[in-house]
Amino acid sequence: MSSPPHPSRPPPPARPVAIAGCGAHVPARVLTNRDLERMVETSHEWIVERTGMRERRIAADHEATSDLALEAARKALQSARLAPADVGMIAVATITPDHPFPNTACLVQSRLGARHAFCVGLEAACSGFLYGLEMARRLVETGAVPNALVIGAEKMSAILDWKDRSTCVLFGDGAGAAVLKPAPAGRRGILSTVLGSDGSLADLLYLPAGGSRRPASAATVAAGEHYLRMRGREVFRHAVTHMAQAARTALHRAGLGIQDIRWVIPHQANLRIIAAIGERLGCPADRFIINVERYGNTSAASIGLALDEAVRDGRIRDGDLVLMVAFGAGFTWGASVLEWIQPT
Ligand code: ACO
Repeated sequence: MSSPPHPSRPPPPARPVAIAGCGAHVPARVLTNRDLERMVETSHEWIVERTGMRERRIAADHEATSDLALEAARKALQSARLAPADVGMIAVATITPDHPFPNTACLVQSRLGARHAFCVGLEAACSGFLYGLEMARRLVETGAVPNALVIGAEKMSAILDWKDRSTCVLFGDGAGAAVLKPAPAGRRGILSTVLGSDGSLADLLYLPAGGSRRPASAATVAAGEHYLRMRGREVFRHAVTHMAQAARTALHRAGLGIQDIRWVIPHQANLRIIAAIGERLGCPADRFIINVERYGNTSAASIGLALDEAVRDGRIRDGDLVLMVAFGAGFTWGASVLEWIQPT
């Protein structure tokens, strides 16, 4: 029989944790810039020049965020060779949950059959996937859970005012997922993560009604207060500053320079934001994973979606050092550096 740990004994050294598999899912319907020209006063040229976006995916009326999350989760579990019944925790990062409660992770759990997992919802907007990865990593690292399924999923189309050209052209629907496990012996996995928030700027990007501050009513609906509101120009400025700074800090903590990084996966908010970050970091454009032209800004889904695409098409390879960086409503931001370990 083993004796209980001595109270003064130091905790065991943290074990490295790695992404052991990933997956993604987008709805079938494509909404192009030309389609948007028929809905609001805009043009394909304006959208491409200001954002780099050409099309985005839009979920069907009957599809909810958990439906997108479920498909991404199934693919991630398959790639990590993990059975649903063996999943230790599920985190779903989203600002478009199926319902205010129960949390969307519980809905995914039940349909996956992951009956031993505990489930948390996480609201950090576009930074949600990185927030989820870091919180899950710490639980796997300490042995509190054997593994974790982290999903970023959004049905942004459900909270957009389709008459407001300044926001409706920017967002899309989708889901990205990753499984975290202890890294194989001798491998490093996630090397460093930095997370930050600034709630004093919350009103630059928010959804006014439908919460406890302003419960939904006929008046809030009539005023369109159940739709996302954003002061784009201000958000743009903060996004560039915080993403560049978070990336630098994460690199510093990992003991690396930008020249060591093979791939940068930025939150896909706007091609100009991505270019500005590249400039600030001194990182050439061909080292960025970019798919904003096809999916728009999918908020919490964006990094997982881009990661999965680049892993599946062979751009990200075993041993590559990858920097992920995000910024979103709150404000929230984060950056993470990892050594990619190809699932076998
Ligand atoms: N089509 C045509 N014209 C438009 C459109 C449109 N879809 N939208 C706005 N305009 C007009 C404006 O009315 C304005 O006209 P005006 O000069 O006559 O007033 C002009 O274009 C310029 O508008 P700006 O808002 O200054 O345009 P900007 O170059 O800043 O681009 C954008 C706007 C794309 C929203 C940009 O500011 C941006 O990407 N912001 C950051 C978004 C972001 O990063 N979000 C991250 C988090 S998202 C999350 O957390 C859920």
